[in-house]
Amino acid sequence: MDIDNATTTDNSTINTVSETGEAPVWTAETADWYAANFGDSATNRVAVDYLIEQGFLSSCHSMVVDIGCGTGTALRHIAEELQTSKVTLMGVDPTARMLEIAREQTQSMCPTFDFTRFQWRLAGAEGLPLADNSANVVMALDVLDHVHDLGKSLKEIHRILKPDGTLAIGKDGSLGEDSNTELHLQCAREHGLVVHSIRKLAETDDNVAMTVVILKKK
Ligand SMILES: C[S@@+](CC[C@H](N)C(=O)[O-])C[C@H]1O[C@@H](n2cnc3c(N)ncnc32)[C@H](O)[C@@H]1O
Repeated sequence: MDIDNATTTDNSTINTVSETGEAPVWTAETADWYAANFGDSATNRVAVDYLIEQGFLSSCHSMVVDIGCGTGTALRHIAEELQTSKVTLMGVDPTARMLEIAREQTQSMCPTFDFTRFQWRLAGAEGLPLADNSANVVMALDVLDHVHDLGKSLKEIHRILKPDGTLAIGKDGSLGEDSNTELHLQCAREHGLVVHSIRKLAETDDNVAMTVVILKKK
């Protein structure tokens, strides 16, 4: 998803931190706009499939956290793919309307799901509502451009990850198209996360591409 120069319903423009030097402000209105335009994000599913296929995400995990979870597509896809798992799927987002949409879409699109597996938390990446060393996997899909304090966010992610836990940073498109990712990775390294691999994923049918960077807490 490229929110750069995206036009909301009132014709105002949302720019990412790469353009403005400041993180964009998310409101109920931008949440509705995002849900209408990118809600059921195909790149989220591609990223989740990759994490499962490569063994970074599995049914023996107990806690998976999606930071800036948006409409909840990634978590729903995990629930579909890991049906026998008892893993708790926690969506964290500081935009109340976004969490409302995530909850509503999960109930309406997947009525047979065990909803007790899902937890929705109103919070930013800068203050995660989880205990130290509690998450097996943290996902941040198209989110780090939107946080207000990158250092604080990566420190929090490192804190909540279990030793050897996985952080998956997703960015729509290629890294070459995105000058921010190197900054994100440098900051992640400074906070004790080690880059394991970088992979561009593509779904040729509808030309979807997402680059996923896997980092490990050592
Ligand atoms: C581009 S959307 C991506 C949503 C979802 N991860 C996806 O890939 O469809 C960015 C999300 O980041 C959330 N966000 C904004 N500020 C944030 C922050 N400080 N910490 C975590 N998430 C934030 C927004 O509410 C929005 O849901």
